[in-house]
Amino acid sequence: MARDYPPYIWHNGKIKPWAEATTHVMAHAVHYGSSIFEGIRSYATPKGQAIFRLTDHLKRLYHSAKIYDLPMPYAQDDLARACREVIVANKLPRAYLRPVAFRGLGGFGLSAECPTDVAVAAWEMGPYLGAGVLEQGIDAGVSSWQRFAPNTIPAGAKAGGNYLSGQLIAREARRLGFGEGIALASTGLLSEGAGENLFLVFDGELHTTPVSAALLNGITRNTLMTLAREVGITVVERDIPREYLYLCDELFMCGTAAEITPIRSVDGKPVGAGKPGPVTAKMQKLFFGLFDGSTPDKYGWLEYV
Ligand SMILES: Cc1ncc(COP(=O)(O)O)c(C=O)c1O
Repeated sequence: MARDYPPYIWHNGKIKPWAEATTHVMAHAVHYGSSIFEGIRSYATPKGQAIFRLTDHLKRLYHSAKIYDLPMPYAQDDLARACREVIVANKLPRAYLRPVAFRGLGGFGLSAECPTDVAVAAWEMGPYLGAGVLEQGIDAGVSSWQRFAPNTIPAGAKAGGNYLSGQLIAREARRLGFGEGIALASTGLLSEGAGENLFLVFDGELHTTPVSAALLNGITRNTLMTLAREVGITVVERDIPREYLYLCDELFMCGTAAEITPIRSVDGKPVGAGKPGPVTAKMQKLFFGLFDGSTPDKYGWLEYV
């Protein structure tokens, strides 16, 4: 399938043409999933283009590297600079940024020492789950695949291999005609979406699953919890059984890629009124308000290009 790739990418220390950022088929990461990555968005704001919570995303990247003992050949500041450089090189007015670090070509065994390759790609990306979904919402289904059990694969790391689980969940959902899949943890309790965290609304309160439920501790999740509490919305982190997906008043997914995507049905059962509700709309307004200036950036989350 022909794709419209951006002209430039940052790779191992410099900006180069997209086509030149190659790696060997025997690189460790190709075989064992030994990569770590981030997904970050930049937005056009009244004060210029801003990368949303760049420092927090890069901090999580280095945490993922720590969990998997991946030596990072660049400092966090170098990668922050790379993120800005690749946006500028590609003349992007807004972007989805993908920093990735992986074990490259070295030894062949699982514990082989390999050099770490690092790249940062940037491209323009619309709503992750499809056009119009932020307004209309999606139909979701609970996956037959559970997330990994505690102390097997660390859900707190954003690592390539972890996303084999996400692929099973997302591909099964598409095959069954759903917009996205929702996973249960090995406990049978709710975890998160294939690549998004979950919020359920009960009587005006926001309920979300805890990090112990095999999920990635999302930066969007943290953003929404902070913004909600500021406007007096109660936020509760708790274990949630599956059936509450059918009983809540509203439900939405959130993440850097999915932003705030309402869910209008689960497993064919309507959520609340079967369309995006007022609390979801309020959270969208607060979140996107960060980028049009109507929500004040109190925490320095907008890091200008
Ligand atoms: C599995 C998973 N959960 C949750 C999220 C949401 O995280 P964030 O809001 O930091 O993008 C993502 C996206 O990165 C993800 O891949």
